[in-house]
Amino acid sequence: MKSTHLAGVSFGATVIALSGFAWLAQPKPAEAAGAEAKPGQVAAADKIARGKYLVTIAACNDCHTPLKMGPTGPEPDMTRMLSGHPEMMELPPAPTLPPGPWLVSVAATNTAWSGPWGVSYTANLTPDPETGLGKWTLRDFTATIRSGRHMGRGRAILPPMPIPMYKNFTDEDMEAVFSYLQSIPAVKNRVPEPLPPVAATASTQ
Ligand code: HEC
Repeated sequence: MKSTHLAGVSFGATVIALSGFAWLAQPKPAEAAGAEAKPGQVAAADKIARGKYLVTIAACNDCHTPLKMGPTGPEPDMTRMLSGHPEMMELPPAPTLPPGPWLVSVAATNTAWSGPWGVSYTANLTPDPETGLGKWTLRDFTATIRSGRHMGRGRAILPPMPIPMYKNFTDEDMEAVFSYLQSIPAVKNRVPEPLPPVAATASTQ
C-alpha cells in the first residue's frame, strides 16, 4: 500500500496546485442570514459559508465535479456540482501505460482515475439520500476523512482522494465542510464501484 499512499499525496498536491483557474465564484459572506435572523441561523449560515470557502480552496470540485468541454476548453459542469463520476459515462478499459515514470490515466471528466490501485471514480458528495451523502452524519464524514476508510470502518479510500492532507482538517472545519455539502443541490448519480488493478485481475483468472 506504500506506493498507493504516496500516489495519493502527489496527485492531491498536483491537482491543488493546478486549481488556480478561477473556476468557482468566491464564497459570499453570510449575507443570507439577514438582519432579522436569529443567532442560531446566523451561526448555521456562517458555518455553511466557511464550508463553501474550504471546499473551494481545497479543490474538491477539481475531482468531484465532472469537466465538460466549454468554449475555451474543459470547464466544470456546475449543473452536476460535486456529484462525482457521471454514472451514464461508459468507459473503455484503461490504457496500458508503457514502462517508465508515467503512472496514471485520467478520464476527460477528471472523475475516473486509473493507476496502480486500479480504477477509482470520484464519489457523489451531494445530499442525495440514495447515491450521495444524504444519509451520512457528521460523524460518518469525519470518520471517513480521518481514517481514510468508508464510514471509518469500510474499505480503504483509494487515490487520488487526498486523505493524507484532508485528515488534518480541524473538527470545526470538518463540520463546516460537511454542513456546506449537505446544503448544496442533491444530484441523483450512482457512482460505480472501483475496479481492482489489472495485474490483480489477471492473476485471479
Ligand atoms: C485529487 C482528486 C480528489 C480531490 C481533490 C478530492 N477528492 Fe474526494 N475522492 C476522490 C476519489 C477518486 C474518491 C473515490 C475513492 C474510492 O472509491 O476509494 C473520493 C472519495 C471521497 C469520499 C468518500 C466517499 C465514500 O463513499 O466513502 C469523500 C467523503 C470525499 N471524497 C470527499 C472529498 C472532499 C470533501 C474533498 C475536498 C475537501 C475531496 N473529496 C477532494 C478524489 C478526490
